Amino acid sequence: VAVVGSANLDLVVEVSRPPRVGETLLGRAGGRFSGGKGLNQAVASARSGAPTRFCAVVGADEAADVLQQTLADAGVVTALRRSTSAPTGVAHVLAFDDGDNSIIVAAGANTELDADDAVAGIAGAAVVLAQLEVPLASVAAALRAGRTAGALTILNAAPAHSAAVEMLGDVDVLVVNETECAELGGIGRLHADGAQVVVLTRGAGGVTLHRTGSDPLQVDAFPIDPVDTTGAGDAFCGALAAALAQGVAIEAALARACAAGAVVAQHRGATTTALSPASIAALVSSR
Ligand code: RIB
Repeated sequence: VAVVGSANLDLVVEVSRPPRVGETLLGRAGGRFSGGKGLNQAVASARSGAPTRFCAVVGADEAADVLQQTLADAGVVTALRRSTSAPTGVAHVLAFDDGDNSIIVAAGANTELDADDAVAGIAGAAVVLAQLEVPLASVAAALRAGRTAGALTILNAAPAHSAAVEMLGDVDVLVVNETECAELGGIGRLHADGAQVVVLTRGAGGVTLHRTGSDPLQVDAFPIDPVDTTGAGDAFCGALAAALAQGVAIEAALARACAAGAVVAQHRGATTTALSPASIAALVSSR
C-alpha cells in the first residue's frame, strides 16, 4: 500500500464543549500524539498487516522526530521530506467527554508536498491511498500515477473539497463520511460524476457500500464504548486499503476496516499499537 498525505502532531485538550467566540475555556491536557490523516492511515495499513510506504513532508523539528518514530514502530517505510521553511503540521484536537472531537489543523510543511513527493512511493504498489489534507494537485498526481501503474486507487475525500469530483476518473473507491458526502452533493451526484464505488461511513451506524448498478450493502459497526474517536476513520481507510491489497473481497474488507476503526476508537490518540491483524480478526469473529 502506498499512502500519500499529511503528517501532524496532535495536541489534545479534553474539554466538555467547544469554546464560544471570545470565550476562554479551561480544559485538561489530553496528550501529544502522532496524527495527520495520511500518517494515521499509513500506520493503520501497516498494523493491519500490509507492507506500507508513506510519502509526506514534515518540518526540520522535534515534532517530526516523534512522527518518524511512530511510523518506524509500525513498520511503515517512509519517504519523509524535511522542509527547511515550514514546521511540522500541528492539529489542535478538542476531545469531548463522549469520545467525539473537533479538530483545527495548522498544515505547516504539509502544504509543501508536491507532485514529485506524491508519486515517489507508488511504483509497485497494489493500492494507492490518499486524502485531501495536502495540496490537491499532488493528490491528483498520486491518483493518476497509481491508476497508470495499475494500482487500485482509494480516495478518502477528507476534508471534503469540491476538487475531489475532478479526480473521480482516477479513483476506484471513494470513502466519505456523511458530512463529506453531503458537501460533495450526495451519493446520486457522486455516481453521476463518475464514482463507481462509494463507501459511506456513518460512525456507530456502520458503513454503506454504494456501487453503480447494485443495491446498497450495509456493514454494521462493532458496538464499543469509544474513548477517543480521533483517527478512527483513518484506521478504517488504512485497514480497508490493506485488506484490498491482500486480495480480500470488498465486503469482508469493509468488516475488517470497521473493526480497525473500533480498535482505534477504544484508545487515546489517532494511532494505537493495539491495532493488529489479531485484534481485527478477534472483533470480526465476535459477530
Ligand atoms: O483524522 C484525524 C486526523 O485529522 C488527526 O490526527 C489530525 O492530525 C487531523 O489530520
